Amino acid sequence: MNKIKVNLDKKISASYEICIGQNIIDRIEMIIAKNNCASRYVIVTDSNVSTPHGEKFLTTLKAMDIDVDMIELPDGEASKNIDTVLNIAKKLIKMGVDRKSALIALGGGVVGDMVGFVASIYMRGIPYYQIPTTLLAQVDSSIGGKTAIDLPEGKNLLGTFYQPKGVFIDLSFLNTLPSREFKNGMAEIIKYGIIDDTDLFSLLESEVKAISDRDMALLLTIIEKSCRIKKRIIEIDEKETGLRRILNFGHTIGHAIEAQSDYSISHGDAISIGMVASAKISEKLKYLPSKDRQRIESLIRAFGLPHRIPMSLSTEGILSRLKADKKKEDNIIKFVLLKKLGMPFINGGVPEEIIQETIVELKDR
Ligand code: GLY
Repeated sequence: MNKIKVNLDKKISASYEICIGQNIIDRIEMIIAKNNCASRYVIVTDSNVSTPHGEKFLTTLKAMDIDVDMIELPDGEASKNIDTVLNIAKKLIKMGVDRKSALIALGGGVVGDMVGFVASIYMRGIPYYQIPTTLLAQVDSSIGGKTAIDLPEGKNLLGTFYQPKGVFIDLSFLNTLPSREFKNGMAEIIKYGIIDDTDLFSLLESEVKAISDRDMALLLTIIEKSCRIKKRIIEIDEKETGLRRILNFGHTIGHAIEAQSDYSISHGDAISIGMVASAKISEKLKYLPSKDRQRIESLIRAFGLPHRIPMSLSTEGILSRLKADKKKEDNIIKFVLLKKLGMPFINGGVPEEIIQETIVELKDR
């Protein structure tokens, strides 16, 4: 099992470890027991993960004499809302969960975001662990302490920055992960290659087949590289006041596409199109060499991720979603653009005509 230490704000109490390995679930249980960060635990999971993983985890912790319960949530983004948060909080109160207790988020990004949010506000904050079971959650959402729920007005509009006590990444969960979910995670890994690590980018280019066939040694390498990149960025900018924004590469247009499709387009597909769009804008503004833009587009296609916007999505609709983006400042939509592979920067504002032209050119004809 490999360990990555996330050092935050030089406050030892806020720092935590990301443990990565294959078949490490038994060791996770031992570490949680040894850390002794709470007198009781509540595993929060979803209906997809509770059988068999949640139940097995619950039984083993109980066998170790740990006081532990489990809450099962409905699966999917539709449950990431204030009603579910209130339901969890009410269940916790009924169970007698107090400030000496800790939550364990066992699941994908929805579970992780929501459990982190509840942990950050329940009795003014209790500890929580992340055990991400999807590739996307393993390389992105479980690390860095962003918690959130959705509002009818948009995704992730209520949330906090609240770091977990530890993140445990067990690759074994990937064996049974549906292909759509696997690709969602691959899109984020490609993003790390584009914004930070040309060696990772080249490795992805040369190992498309083995990675798609879920070669565990390669997955361990690329997941660990991704986690190291993210941990380095959040150590410098935990609250996204500057550098952390580069993690949003491809996400500005991606989120607009996701919302415009009523979330029928997955996050990974949407940010893949968003990354192609951002590379194209970078090229149009004469920052990014054309060959780098082509490499980005080819890699995205090689992993079976989309590089074109479906005709059914209106250009005007995408543009108006972009204007409503929560990350815009003073009505200027700041994009993460590229000077070359591995060299992102935050652009001061892209002219609307360029954005519109790019969307039109990317329409799938
Ligand atoms: N997913 C982007 C971030 O954690 O900042």
